[in-house]
Amino acid sequence: MKQKILTLLKQQQGYVSGQEISNTFGVTRTAIWKYINALREEGYEIESMTRKGYRLVNSPDFLSEEEIRNCLTENVLPGELKIFDTIDSTNEEAKRAFQRGAGDRSLYVSEEQTAGKGRRGRNWISPKGQDVFFSFLLQPDLPPESASMITLVAALAGVKAVEKHTSARCQIKWPNDLVINGRKVCGILTEMSADMDQIHYVVPGIGFNLNRTEFDETIASIASSVYVETGCKVERNAFLADYVMEFMKRYDLFLKEQNLSAFMEEYNQHLINVGREVKIIRRNDEVIRKALGINERGELQVADESGTIENVFSGEVSVRGLYGYV
Ligand code: BTN
Repeated sequence: MKQKILTLLKQQQGYVSGQEISNTFGVTRTAIWKYINALREEGYEIESMTRKGYRLVNSPDFLSEEEIRNCLTENVLPGELKIFDTIDSTNEEAKRAFQRGAGDRSLYVSEEQTAGKGRRGRNWISPKGQDVFFSFLLQPDLPPESASMITLVAALAGVKAVEKHTSARCQIKWPNDLVINGRKVCGILTEMSADMDQIHYVVPGIGFNLNRTEFDETIASIASSVYVETGCKVERNAFLADYVMEFMKRYDLFLKEQNLSAFMEEYNQHLINVGREVKIIRRNDEVIRKALGINERGELQVADESGTIENVFSGEVSVRGLYGYV
């Protein structure tokens, strides 16, 4: 009932009378008053005026399943949606969820992570209340070698969500870091469990620095947030819902085509590496090449001085700019 009253208040621009709430939901005026007070205790600022009723002035900025679901179009997330106040890692939670039988296209989100994981065994610093840390549980019918492309789908969805919420130019550092003004605002770690020929699950985990203003000294020279780079505070529930829709739209296309052909061009338009020299760091050597763009399997096409083109697979290499991170 509390959520229903909240939704009604959100739908109205001005005041909603106690009588209207009472008629709509069949509850007494005293009960309404109690629900309104409970909402106030949760941080909602609700004005009340004799004869006019109640008006929602401000909502607290915490992640809420209800708020996210309200912004999602139907069926886009048929699985679970779970929000945690704190968790070790949303990727770990998605994997545990698979073990307990959670369905395809579930989503696990946390206000903070105590053991957030980055790529290449690094940790992902995940402080409370300002950013979003989330992981999908996906169970696609794909050959295992195609799963890494999902990471690029996740990166492009991030660009689109940022563009919807700010006027900033958000770019991708191949394969999956999102950067604004040359600083990293988002990282993606995709994990998978599979047999030789069949995927059990794929878990893309996304860490978005949205409203954070302070950065640990270990990442301060590279990392930033959408807020620091654009001056726009991001409404996290709406942002997450937009992200999910942008992701699922492209994920469906990807499953249909089984490659990235449908949005390879869109990805390349946002790729910060295009036309730049990049250092390709392999296990045993480093070479410098010019980045051209991705192919339809998400590999980075690079050229050497003689113009010979080579495709670079993200699992094998790390790519750096010649003069720093990008
Ligand atoms: C990177 O190193 O750039 C990837 C960082 C991925 C961080 C996200 S936060 C949500 C999910 N849970 C984790 O433990 N890691 C990913």
